[in-house]
Amino acid sequence: MNKILAPSILAADFSNLAQQIRMAEMGGADWIHCDIMDGKFVPNISFGPIIVNTVKGITKLPVDVHLMIQRPDDFLVEFVNAGADYITVHQEEVVHLNRTINRIKELGANAGVVLNPSTPVSTLSEILDIVDMILIMSVNPGFGGQKFIESSLNKIKFLDSIRNEKGYKYLIEIDGGVGPDNINKISEAGCDVFVAGSSVFGADNISAAAMELKNLLNK
Ligand code: DX5
Ligand code: ZN
Repeated sequence: MNKILAPSILAADFSNLAQQIRMAEMGGADWIHCDIMDGKFVPNISFGPIIVNTVKGITKLPVDVHLMIQRPDDFLVEFVNAGADYITVHQEEVVHLNRTINRIKELGANAGVVLNPSTPVSTLSEILDIVDMILIMSVNPGFGGQKFIESSLNKIKFLDSIRNEKGYKYLIEIDGGVGPDNINKISEAGCDVFVAGSSVFGADNISAAAMELKNLLNK
């Protein structure tokens, strides 16, 4: 299975967004990750559907929308209309997860569920057969540039082994503190999709930084 690099524009220079996304594409980025923060679910505010739609107009790559917001159900239509190809919602915020996953799929997007570092994987046992992607947070969400939390590797290993055992189809995604020093061990744990904010868009040479991560993944 191909490993997917998904740079997060949270660390990008928004006055040059189009150019910066092109640089990431040139370096081999596979998806573009958009971090949506509302200042309530997480202690920071980022951007909303208008920027997602701007990204959609810049790139043909799949747009991966990570909703760190309260009441994500109320905004699914807006983000699908803005061009989201993947929408991930936090397990900690969504009460009727089965309904929300099915709703995202009905709207025509791929449905993902995210776990905070303190939330166990066991909370997802009843939806593993219907979800398209599981995102493991390897930092507490809200900010870029934080240190990778090592215990997230165990969650990935468990999700990968139960996927092999039961034939589940979900992708496993990691988000937070991913860079050249740890991307290989995360990949070896069974991860498929690698979000990278500061290690790509925070680099002096965005193309070279993306290419380095892709080369490490393809080793
Ligand atoms: C954190 C966001 C991440 C963030 C990652 O709340 O969900 O996607 O952009 O940034 P880095 O890669 O710098 O840890
Ligand atoms: Zn994210």
